[in-house]
Amino acid sequence: MTGSEREAFGVYVHWPFCLSKCPYCDFNSHVRHAAIDEDRFVRAFAREIETTAARAPGREVTSIFLGGGTPSLMQPATVGAVLDAIGQHWRVASDVEVTLEANPTSVEATRFAGYRAAGVNRVSLGVQALNDSSLKELGRLHSAREALDAVAIARKSFDRYSFDLIYARPDQTPAMWADELKLAIEEAAEHLSLYQLTIEEGTPFFGLHAAGKLKTPDEAMARALYDVTQEVCSAHGLPAYEISNHARQGAECRHNLVYWRGQEYAGIGPGAHGRLDVGGARHATATEKRPEAWLMRVEANGHGVVIDDVLNRDERADEFLLMGLRLKEGIDPERYAALSGRAIDPRRIAVLREEGAIAVDADGRLRVTQAGFPVLDAVVADLAA
Ligand SMILES: C[S@@+](CC[C@H](N)C(=O)[O-])C[C@H]1O[C@@H](n2cnc3c(N)ncnc32)[C@H](O)[C@@H]1O
Ligand code: SF4
Repeated sequence: MTGSEREAFGVYVHWPFCLSKCPYCDFNSHVRHAAIDEDRFVRAFAREIETTAARAPGREVTSIFLGGGTPSLMQPATVGAVLDAIGQHWRVASDVEVTLEANPTSVEATRFAGYRAAGVNRVSLGVQALNDSSLKELGRLHSAREALDAVAIARKSFDRYSFDLIYARPDQTPAMWADELKLAIEEAAEHLSLYQLTIEEGTPFFGLHAAGKLKTPDEAMARALYDVTQEVCSAHGLPAYEISNHARQGAECRHNLVYWRGQEYAGIGPGAHGRLDVGGARHATATEKRPEAWLMRVEANGHGVVIDDVLNRDERADEFLLMGLRLKEGIDPERYAALSGRAIDPRRIAVLREEGAIAVDADGRLRVTQAGFPVLDAVVADLAA
C-alpha cells in the first residue's frame, strides 16, 4: 500500500436542494419554494452521523465531501455544525480534505469565506460551460462572467479548488472545445472534472432528445471531443487520473479516490450511498431519497437507511474492477483475486493487451490504456466475465 493509499475513510454528506432543476440532471435534487429549515436538517445530519459512527467506529476520517444538489445554498453555520458532528463521532485526520460543491453565482461566492472559516478547504464549482449560449441551453442560472468571478473568489478563499465542465454539447466542435478547455485550464490551476453530456432518462433533455429536438454529437464526434480533451489537458499539465478527472500531480480529489479505490465511506443525508465494513462484510447502503421522508425516518429511527445489502464476493470484486479501472493507476490484480477467490482469466488479459486496450505494469498493476478508455465498459465486462 502506497502512502496515498493509507487506510482512507470518507464521509459523504448530501444536500438535496437546488434553486432550479437543470434539464439534464438526474441527481437527487429538489426545488422548494418555502424556506428550508436548516436547523432541523442539522439535527438530523448529526443523528445520522452518530448512528453511522456507532456502526463503523474507530475510523479516522481522511476526507469529507458535501455534495448535492447545491450545498452552497447552506448557511456556513450549517456546514460548520455538520463538520463538528463528524468530529464528535469520529477521529478526523489533521490533513483531512473537506470539499464543498458550489454553484458559481455571485450570491454563493459571498459565502466562501464563511465556509472556509467553518472548515471547508476545497471547493468544486459547477461551471459547466464558459460561454453564455451554452449555459442558457443547459438551463444554468449563471453567466460565464459570473462563473469566472466565482472561480476568482474561490482561488482567493481556498488553497484547493476545481471546476466541472460538461462537453459533447449540441453543436460543439473539437476546435470550439479546445479553446474553451484552454481557458478553463488557465482558470482551474490544478483540477478539472470534464463530463461528457449524458442524456438521462426522465429528464427534460431525454424527452427533447427522443423527439429529435436536441441533437447531441454522434459517436465519431464524441470520440473526437474526447481525444481533444486528453490532448489539450495533457499538453497543459492536467492529465487524466480518472476517466473524467484531470489534475496536476498531487492535486487529485482524495475523496473521489476513496470510491474508485474501493475503500470505505459513510453516506449521510437524503439519497446518500455508503460502503461500510461491518463484522468483516462489505455493506452497500443507501438512504431514503426524498428529503422530508428522510428527515422523518432519521427523527424516528436515528438513520435514513433504506438499503443495506451485504455484497457477496463476486459483487465486491466486480465493483472493485469497475471502479478501479476508471483510474489511470488501475488495479492490483492480486487484490481482485483475494476479493473474488479467483484470478482474472489470463487469456482475457492477453487478448486485451494484444488489442492495446490494457497494459500490465512492471509492478503487476493492470490498467486501461489511453486507447482503451473510450471502450472502458466493454473492457470491464470482458475482464469480469
Ligand atoms: C450533481 S452535480 C452538483 C453540482 C452543482 N449542483 C452544480 O450543478 O454546479 C455534479 C456535476 O455533475 C455533472 N452532471 C450532472 N448531470 C450531468 C449529465 N447529465 N451529463 C454530464 N454531466 C452531468 C455536472 O458537471 C455537475 O457539476
Ligand atoms: S446540475 Fe447541480 S444545480 Fe443543476 S439540478 Fe443538478 S444538482 Fe442542481
